[in-house]
Amino acid sequence: MYQLTNKVAIITGSGRHKGIGEAIALKLAYEGCNIVISDLGTPKGADLAAEHIGVTSEMNAIADACRAFGVQVLTIPCDVRIESECKELIHQTAASLGRIDILVNNAGVGYLMEPFTEFKESSWDVVLDVNLKGPFLCSKHAAVQMIEQGTGGVIINIASQAAKSGFPFAAAYTASKHGLVGLTRSNAVELGKHKIRVNAVCPNHITTGLGHWQNSFFSEKLGMDYETYLQSIVQKNPLGRTGQTEDIAKAVAFLCSDEAAYITGEAINVSGGEEYH
Ligand SMILES: NC(=O)c1ccc[n+]([C@@H]2O[C@H](COP(=O)([O-])OP(=O)(O)OC[C@H]3O[C@@H](n4cnc5c(N)ncnc54)[C@H](O)[C@@H]3O)[C@@H](O)[C@H]2O)c1
Repeated sequence: MYQLTNKVAIITGSGRHKGIGEAIALKLAYEGCNIVISDLGTPKGADLAAEHIGVTSEMNAIADACRAFGVQVLTIPCDVRIESECKELIHQTAASLGRIDILVNNAGVGYLMEPFTEFKESSWDVVLDVNLKGPFLCSKHAAVQMIEQGTGGVIINIASQAAKSGFPFAAAYTASKHGLVGLTRSNAVELGKHKIRVNAVCPNHITTGLGHWQNSFFSEKLGMDYETYLQSIVQKNPLGRTGQTEDIAKAVAFLCSDEAAYITGEAINVSGGEEYH
């Protein structure tokens, strides 16, 4: 146990089954945190259609699963691209649960992939807005609250292997995740004096809903069937498997705890050795 009892944690994009956000919420609830499950809840146009997002019924089911650990849980819809909604997410959390100790910026879009020479400006904007502007807005308002509380806090940005290496068809995704590491470092330097620690976690491939879309996309591009493609990923991994959502949740729980009290400004790979710089 990491002694996180009674801490209050917001996890954005945590309302989708099989997602990294769901696993983080369950792990932090297990560790005793009161939890805010935040996600879109309702589709927002073709780029954020129901098949890609966490809908209200999923948010509620994940909240119930967290409640089974005996902690308080709220569900708060928030489109992380919109500043007023991010501000309201922080405000409602503090008003209902009394404080905010942990923000996990997990919401992300990883399925708008196109050849670079055909990359649509609209796709670029959605990916950058969700993956980079979202963490900026949520972190900004969470930091205001944490500074006012005066007892420090933890911000964790879920970046990616694509924050360290390039990937084809993924110009926007790769740029957004590299940028997220820059945001992490800048925030760590600036917010350290308030005892707010800011770190990024960089997963390799995990077959979440988003990961499943990527498997289908890349297997088709490479002319492989789905299973052969998955095997090819496993074979290049030093630990011989793809990531699991729980691998990321365990790293997040560690970074939230006092065991990581002197760790800030890092972008930590959780990739089975696939990424090591
Ligand atoms: N699955 C992987 O292989 C992998 C690898 C590295 C990094 N990641 C990152 O992990 C995070 C979680 O991804 P996942 O694989 O669990 O996928 P997922 O699709 O299960 O989770 C992404 C969540 O973000 C939410 N979201 C999208 N747009 C939003 C918006 N505007 N406002 C609020 N929420 C929004 C979705 O509704 C969804 O619940 C993402 O940031 C992703 O980039 C995933």
